[in-house]
Amino acid sequence: MKKVLILYWGKGGNVERAAKKVYEMFSPGQADIFDVVSFDVSKITDYDLIILGGSTVGAELWADVKDDNEWNRFFREVENVDLSGKYVAFFGLGDQVLYPDHYVDALGVFKDEMVKAGVKHIGEWPTEGYRFTDSDGAEGDRFFGLALDEDRQPELTDERVKKWTDILKKEVGL
Ligand SMILES: Cc1cc2nc3c(=O)[nH]c(=O)nc-3n(C[C@H](O)[C@H](O)[C@H](O)COP(=O)(O)O)c2cc1C
Repeated sequence: MKKVLILYWGKGGNVERAAKKVYEMFSPGQADIFDVVSFDVSKITDYDLIILGGSTVGAELWADVKDDNEWNRFFREVENVDLSGKYVAFFGLGDQVLYPDHYVDALGVFKDEMVKAGVKHIGEWPTEGYRFTDSDGAEGDRFFGLALDEDRQPELTDERVKKWTDILKKEVGL
């Protein structure tokens, strides 16, 4: 059976709640969910579809505070692992009203760090239905992954998660 891994950071807020919603869309036994700090990276090759989820908390943070960002530690560890043939998808939390110039920028970081030779990046998502002016997490009319906004559009989250995970399942053949 094909296996799904959901990794998220941080804990106790919107990201964790969204990650659990993503997890619940898969059949029992098909998916595992961990916060990125608790996950043993050597196990990542057990999975066929790897889903990463996080929030954007300040454009500067990702670039400048490398050592203080749990994702960066994960990205450095995963560089030594052969992920060729794996499906990789992302979801990102952000606030399009307070941060319209940097809405879900972290999706761009996920893409830059994870989409390397041999990985199959899936789960891009249309920018239609969102109001923002700029994002490192999008190109043209597509986000690099599912964009969620628990601050401004919480009522849309369940439907978005359902549609997005249906797309992933179809692509991976789950
Ligand atoms: C200090 C701070 C900076 C933020 N910067 C951004 C940003 O640059 N872009 C964005 O889309 N959202 C930004 N947000 C909004 C968060 O990403 C959003 O509220 C998210 O749902 C928080 O997830 P959490 O509850 O798991 O921490 C910021 C929030 C905070 C508190």
